[in-house]
Amino acid sequence: MESVRTVAVFGAYGHTGRFVVAELLERGFVPVLSGRDADRLRTLAASHGGLDVRPASVDDPASLDRALAGAAAVVNCAGPFAVTGAPVIEAALRAGIPYVDVAAEIEANADTFARFADRARAAGTAVVPAMAFYGGLGDLLATTAMGDWTTADEVHVAYGLSSWHPTAGTLAAGKVSRERRGGRHLRHTGGRLEHHDEPLPVLEWPFPAPMGPRPVIGGFTMADVVTVPSHLAVPEVRTYMAVDAARDLSAPDAPAPVAVDEHGRSAQTFLVDVLVRSGGAERRAVATGRDIYAVSAPLAVEAVHRILTGRTRTTGVASAGAMFDAPEFLRALSAHLSLEVRH
Ligand SMILES: NC(=O)c1ccc[n+]([C@@H]2O[C@H](COP(=O)([O-])OP(=O)(O)OC[C@H]3O[C@@H](n4cnc5c(N)ncnc54)[C@H](OP(=O)(O)O)[C@@H]3O)[C@@H](O)[C@H]2O)c1
Repeated sequence: MESVRTVAVFGAYGHTGRFVVAELLERGFVPVLSGRDADRLRTLAASHGGLDVRPASVDDPASLDRALAGAAAVVNCAGPFAVTGAPVIEAALRAGIPYVDVAAEIEANADTFARFADRARAAGTAVVPAMAFYGGLGDLLATTAMGDWTTADEVHVAYGLSSWHPTAGTLAAGKVSRERRGGRHLRHTGGRLEHHDEPLPVLEWPFPAPMGPRPVIGGFTMADVVTVPSHLAVPEVRTYMAVDAARDLSAPDAPAPVAVDEHGRSAQTFLVDVLVRSGGAERRAVATGRDIYAVSAPLAVEAVHRILTGRTRTTGVASAGAMFDAPEFLRALSAHLSLEVRH
């Protein structure tokens, strides 16, 4: 019997998966722990006083079906999503339950829209890719900044991270993405994604106080180039990354994030500045918070909660901004994000 409080987490013992499991418990859900390593699942289950453990492999659809049996939704935290996305979405469609993932890979997110839009819509099943810091938050901010605008000329998403100590999963995702695009760069321009080989410029981005102007890498393309134009009529979507954070990420010996508080969050802080331009007018939405991995958990779990309580605006494959009431969604996360909207 399906319980609306039971949520399967695939990749449960990964860095982000652990935050998602903790957030589900915090909000009264019952997580079912899944992933490919039974021992690590059992250790995680024991650390929470005992939770259901269901080992599963993306190469074994029956094991995924067992993992999702009785769950009301599944959150996929196992990346690279180029490998895990399609098999777990297939399993969610077989089970007839909503699917949410935290994919940051541009190509994997584009694949989710291209491969599953028709089937998910026909099945009436919600599939929300990139429901996390990259891809999800920028889209919610862009949608909020748009307000009553139905079109805009440009969306700019600037990431002001104090540092970026990446997880193994982030590095693996970056490697897969680089290989998929043959070492070329990607950008969203003229209403579509295109490859290019131009050097990425360093420019100064006018982050609002207290951060203030900082150097960023232009064209440091993140998942927002898939999520934002999936539902907003904006031909130019550009993303920027603080130079210091990009340097951290590419360091040959990049250290992993270190927990410094009781929630396991690192000391990393972020400011995401989204600027939307239409004609001569500008609108802005800015979010600040702590730890890009940790904040992905309330983003993903808020999405699950809204889907399971019918607070959605569409069905099928949809990004955060299309699936949910974006300003309301962001306000609901006030314990995790500070929000400023300037119209
Ligand atoms: N969009 C965003 O803002 C955002 C935020 C957070 C995370 N992410 C993405 O989420 C993914 C995980 O990140 P993380 O920080 O949690 O990294 P992590 O700590 O390295 O965890 C990765 C998890 O994925 C599992 N995994 C990898 N390949 C798998 C496969 N083929 N089958 C089953 N499980 C597999 C790993 O299991 P094993 O240990 O057994 O390999 C582990 O549980 C990455 O792709 C990352 O980019 C995105």
